Amino acid sequence: MKLKSLYRCQQCGFQAPKWAGQCPDCEAWNTLVEEVVSVGKEKSRPCARPRAAASSGVVRLSQARGKALERVPTGIGELDRILGGGVVCGQVLLLAGPPGIGKSTLMLQAAGRLAARKVLYVSGEESLSQVADRARRIGLGDCDLALASETELGRILEAVAEVKPGVIVLDSIQTVFRPELSGGPGTVGQVRDCAAELLREAKASGAALFLLGHVTKEGAVAGPKVLEHIVDTVLQFAAEERQQLRVLRAEKNRFGPTSEIGLFEMTEGGLREVLDPSALFLEEHSSRPAAGRAVSVTLEGSRPILVEVQALVTPTHTPLPRRMATGLDVNRLFVLVASLEKHLKLRFDAYDVYINIAGGLRVKDPALDLAVCLAVVSSARDTPLPAGRVFIGEVGLLGEIGRAGRLAQRLREAERLGFKRAVIGARAGAELAKSGAVTALKLSRAADIPGAVEAALRDFGE
Ligand code: TYD
Ligand code: MG
Repeated sequence: MKLKSLYRCQQCGFQAPKWAGQCPDCEAWNTLVEEVVSVGKEKSRPCARPRAAASSGVVRLSQARGKALERVPTGIGELDRILGGGVVCGQVLLLAGPPGIGKSTLMLQAAGRLAARKVLYVSGEESLSQVADRARRIGLGDCDLALASETELGRILEAVAEVKPGVIVLDSIQTVFRPELSGGPGTVGQVRDCAAELLREAKASGAALFLLGHVTKEGAVAGPKVLEHIVDTVLQFAAEERQQLRVLRAEKNRFGPTSEIGLFEMTEGGLREVLDPSALFLEEHSSRPAAGRAVSVTLEGSRPILVEVQALVTPTHTPLPRRMATGLDVNRLFVLVASLEKHLKLRFDAYDVYINIAGGLRVKDPALDLAVCLAVVSSARDTPLPAGRVFIGEVGLLGEIGRAGRLAQRLREAERLGFKRAVIGARAGAELAKSGAVTALKLSRAADIPGAVEAALRDFGE
């Protein structure tokens, strides 16, 4: 094989024909590393064009329609939800996350459920006995899995040819290397080249390919970032503040949604799906009312989840009052505090305001605004909000309470968990009545912030 070399920046992936001290693209220093590129590789690549196509490869859209995607459920509900029902033949997925989060555990559990599809689990990080040990610990002792502890790409491809798996798990992409390339395992060149080779293999054989990749807090290690554009699906596994809680999100998904989240808890016996997140997040919510606490229903993808917003408003001891938010965008807090100042004629300039979403979930849903506002007011006035109430609605700059998507679904979830009354926007309430949705919750409709505060605190004698 004829070899040619080039220099690739380990930071941004830029290719330079000559070595330089500084990357011309991202301007990082000492990041160019020599890489050997094989020439003539193109010729040996399998031709992906459909045979029936015209010689130029151009076809009509009507002719290009493929068969309906066949989905294979992984059997892990929280994972399937994110994938849109399961993995698709030939789908290449990147599962990225910090070390120790549970990537290997999750994939081994999924491999166990997918065993009927013939799974090849390749670990470059652990020995076969370590993998087997872990499998036993999570109850997959007698599962029929093909295991390999291998890091060299050629050997991995040989294993794939031998096993002919329907599902390939590679743990992790950073350990795989091709000896022909000069960079060590984990360098941009190795990661990209090995992933591309495996991807070709997966697309050709129709196997689903899971690539596991580590990201450090600084995102420094080459790997997941450079793969994002070549894979079909990028799954991010992250630990939220609550130690055992793990949140899986799809950042990119060619075959499914990206709005869904999957929730897991790390236990002695592996990852356990969180089937009732509302109950989990309200676990610490005692029925005893406390100043600064307000409950809302957030929508994560298609799933409504009850969350408790906690606010602490205290006199400030610094020239600039502090605004801190855990689980919520702090800029949103700035806007909401400004809105409260304007519309309730309150002054927060001598007060620090802290917000926390209990349970450690990070929430972007604007329907949480109202609960944030009421938690702040409740803490500022040192007055608990009556128990059994939820607050759902976006708060606009003019102080109006806006709508919340899928309100009926949110209300049903609050009802299920024993809540009695919901404070919602006036328009949202009218639309709900028109849609004919039935809820056993009593509804208080508020047009604006002052109205919502009044409704939130009013004693209905319930
Ligand atoms: P692991 O899947 O090895 O993480 P990653 O592949 O992302 O690096 O799991 C990491 C942690 O999970 C490890 O510290 C041990 C813990 N763990 C449990 O608590 N229970 C279990 O059943 C397993 C398998 C792991
Ligand atoms: Mg691992």
